[in-house]
Amino acid sequence: MASALSLLQQYSQSALARLPPPAQELLLHPLTQKAAGALLALGLVRSVNNRLTQWTMNNWTSAGRWTPSREIVLVSGGCSGIGKQVVEDLAKIGVQVVILDINEPNFPLPANVRFYHASVTSSESIAAAAATIRKEVGDPTVLINNAGVAFDQTILDEPEEKIRLTFEVNTVSHFLMVREFLPAMIRANHGHVITVASMASFVALGEMADYCGSKASALAFHESLRQELRYWYNAPKVRTSIIHPMWVRTPMIKMLTDHESKFGQPIMTVQKVSDAIVHQIVSQNSGQVVLPASKSVARLVRAMPTWMQETVRSIEAGKLYRMRLAQKAEEEQGKH
Ligand SMILES: NC(=O)c1ccc[n+]([C@@H]2O[C@H](COP(=O)([O-])OP(=O)(O)OC[C@H]3O[C@@H](n4cnc5c(N)ncnc54)[C@H](O)[C@@H]3O)[C@@H](O)[C@H]2O)c1
Repeated sequence: MASALSLLQQYSQSALARLPPPAQELLLHPLTQKAAGALLALGLVRSVNNRLTQWTMNNWTSAGRWTPSREIVLVSGGCSGIGKQVVEDLAKIGVQVVILDINEPNFPLPANVRFYHASVTSSESIAAAAATIRKEVGDPTVLINNAGVAFDQTILDEPEEKIRLTFEVNTVSHFLMVREFLPAMIRANHGHVITVASMASFVALGEMADYCGSKASALAFHESLRQELRYWYNAPKVRTSIIHPMWVRTPMIKMLTDHESKFGQPIMTVQKVSDAIVHQIVSQNSGQVVLPASKSVARLVRAMPTWMQETVRSIEAGKLYRMRLAQKAEEEQGKH
């Protein structure tokens, strides 16, 4: 160890001697050395933090080797947007994929992908599809609760049935799907439940009260599920992950993408979200993933002083509101 350190010291001294004098002076300056020390310490804290997250989220257990041939991944809402991309990417890595959706696929299914018609809002519909899936494919080892709906209306304007549907599809379905498919994972002490939530789990905006409520609930569901797996079901190797994407270019946000120049917010590709979901599955690690990663600070919004929280919500909601005004003005112009 001592000889390795002295070798490293000799190497860095000779490397330094080869640099031009102004560069040597800059590198030897006490402020530069302090900054380098601080960066090193930050890197160390970050790496310890990441390790602690990984170990605690995985109950200090390893899931063993990733073996694609033993995995069956069920993707709800796999016929469109994010779910469709995940289905295609998983098919390429050789796992069996099962889609559960109310809409038929309008794209050719790879040989290792099967489609089952069911609504995630009905336990009878899920049970009927599950019986056929078990007979034809087997028990899913990974469940991706991805199906979702969103309606952009204010609390006073939105019809009651749309409010109810939002919670049925985006929240209640997680209970129904997990009640159907988790017992087999618990018996095997192997599996992964992935919740596709949203940035809306952290920041609630106008015209999105039901959606934001449903996604904050999905986060609470994910957190409770983790604890139940650890203590109540004694299945520490069943993993749980939650994904919080910001805006993603899919039919769900067509109203926004149709007015993109006025919306002025970055919109991610489905590939970016699918890559993150596939990474969670293949690494067999539980986790919380915010996309884009540069917006991870959103997790802290509710820990901010109230005035700061309100400013964040107000900035984001203001962008939506101004876009809506511009959209209405455009529609009015079109009429004349
Ligand atoms: N698009 C975004 O900006 C965005 C951002 C954050 C989170 N999300 C979340 O990502 C997930 C996927 O959304 P997307 O953008 O790909 O939307 P999408 O509209 O393209 O796809 C949603 C899919 O869910 C299916 N579905 C709807 N109701 C169903 C039901 N009752 N039973 C079974 N399937 C049903 C639809 O048929 C469709 O195939 C959703 O949970 C959504 O809330 C989307």
